[in-house]
Parts: sequence; C-alpha cells; structure tokens
Amino acid sequence: MSGKKCPTAEARPGMKLASSIIKESGQVILAEGTVLTASFIEKLKLMNLEFIDVAENAAAEAPTPPTSVETFGAVYDNTLQVIENCFATTRYFKEVPLIQMKELADTSVNLMADAAGVFGYLRIIRKQDDYTFQHSINVAIISGIVGKWVGLSGEELKDLIFAGLLHDIGKTQIPIEILNKPARLTQEEMKIMKSHTIEGYKMLLGEAGINESILCGVLQHHEKIDRTGYPSGISGEQIHPFAKIIAVADIYDAMTSDRVYRVGQTPFEVVADIRQEAFGKLDPAICMTFLNNILDYFIGAKVVLSDGEEAEIIYQGHHSYPTVCTRAGKFIDLEVNRDISIVSFI
Ligand SMILES: [Fe+2]
Repeated sequence: MSGKKCPTAEARPGMKLASSIIKESGQVILAEGTVLTASFIEKLKLMNLEFIDVAENAAAEAPTPPTSVETFGAVYDNTLQVIENCFATTRYFKEVPLIQMKELADTSVNLMADAAGVFGYLRIIRKQDDYTFQHSINVAIISGIVGKWVGLSGEELKDLIFAGLLHDIGKTQIPIEILNKPARLTQEEMKIMKSHTIEGYKMLLGEAGINESILCGVLQHHEKIDRTGYPSGISGEQIHPFAKIIAVADIYDAMTSDRVYRVGQTPFEVVADIRQEAFGKLDPAICMTFLNNILDYFIGAKVVLSDGEEAEIIYQGHHSYPTVCTRAGKFIDLEVNRDISIVSFI
C-alpha cells in the first residue's frame, strides 16, 4: 500500500496505516490497513513513535474487509487487545469505555463481519485463552452477519453489532474466581454468574449512544422463547429481536469454540445440535435463516474426514450434514453415511 509519512502527533481517527507497526521483538502491534481509532493513536503517542506511514488518500478511501487469514488475524488481534483493555477498565472503574467500544464496533468488527471468508477465518485463528474477550468479538461479528441475513442494515445493523460486542460486559462485575472456575459452578455461583445480564444492563442504562434495542440485546440474550431463560423468563413475543439474534450467535460461537474441557464442534455438528435441542428455545425464523445460510456458506470448503481422507463440500441439502467429494473423486452423502464425519477444515 502506498503511503506518506505522518507525524504521530497529527494522526487522526479514520486514517489507514500504509505499513505495519512492529515492535523491536518483531511482534506486529498494528497491521497494515488498520484504520486508526482515537485509542490506537493515543497508544502510538505513548510509544514515542515520531512518524507513522498512512495511506495517501486515507480520508477518501473506504476501508475494505480483510481478504486473507493473515490480514483478518491482524485486525482480530488488534481488536482483541482493545477489548481486553476495555473489559479491564470496566472491571476496575465500573464504567464502560463506550466511545472506544463503539469505534471498534463501527470499524474493525464491522469490517470483519463483511469479510467473505469470515467463518473459516474464525475457526483458524481461535486461541485457547482469553475466551470471554474472543467470545465478545465473535458474537459481535456473527450477530452482524445474521443481522444482514435477516434483512437489517444501516444504523440498526451497527447497533446490533455494538450490542453483540457489549452482550457479556456484565461479566466484568462477576468475581474472577467464579468467572474462571475450572469446575462446575455451585447453585449460588450460578446465580451470581447469571446476574451478568442485569449487571451489563445497569452499567449501560442512561449512557449516551445506548438505545433501547442495545439495552434489550444485553439484558435479554439468555432469554428463551419457551420462558426457560433468564433473567426474567419472558416469552417469545416479549424478547427483542436483537436478543434473539445475539442468542443464536452466542450458542454457535460457544459450541464451535475449543475450551479447556472439550474440543469445539464442527459447524455441521452445531447445526445438528441446534436443530435437535435449541429449536423451541431460539426464535424459529431467525434460527432457520441462520441454519440455512451457515450450511450454504461452507460449500466449497476443504475438509478432513474421520477416515483420514481429504474432501471438498459440494452440496448441502436441507439436512445438517453435506455431501462431499473426496480427492479420489468419490461422492459421500454424510447425512446417509453417518459412520463417516468431518473432523476438521483445511
Ligand atoms: Fe451471556
């Protein structure tokens, strides 16, 4: 990317980096193509960096979604760092740095949600640690995608992504010992854990830039349409569409994530599970839109099968499992041949 030298003191939010900023240790701090936010600029100033390289027509050029796992990973890592800081600030000051988080939702998260290969990238770049932070970003991205699938756009879609990023912000008010407990929670601890919905709502209520939809998304994302959810046990019609979308994104991300105690499931296993177990709990229209689109999304993906063969997903009917074509040219309908399954993506 062609760029010009810009004194760090004159850097403005919205400018795009023309080259990566790399620490002496070789670690990329901000990747080429990153759109600068006020907080990024503050950090660069703190690093005593005199100049940065910014894109020539930074003001006119609209940022483009990442197109490779490397560029996606760089945007994701930057986002992760900012979210980690935002959560730490919220935990200690009991105040959410909303301007910073809104900027992140509107720039990096929005761009990642627009990346064509996003679901594949999210699978590849997963890390074992930082679950809460990664989960917040992933839910924001996936909510944005599902929002588009159900027809949202413009400011409403931006609000949904913001709500996704904030949905678990109340977890900052849960004691660390409970949040990170490696064993099963006691009933009392579970009660405290569940309060993260109300804690998040309380911190956001009355804040500038937080509207009713965002508040409902945060407060109601664990409600279920059959009244078995929390905190209020309300029914389908009473649950805001933002909360219903975030609930689907939340479940998909949690089930596909590797955790200390289990390996994440493939999207197809998650689809099968959602069909069997979560139907009747999640909004049926949103759920169907999600399931149909996510399955179509993986057509063309290269996978490894449980018998060790490599294959490509070539067809997805109305079932949970697709038809694949192996390297040897053999077609296998995995819905029928249930003794063979997809174990990983290439
Ligand atoms: Fe939650």
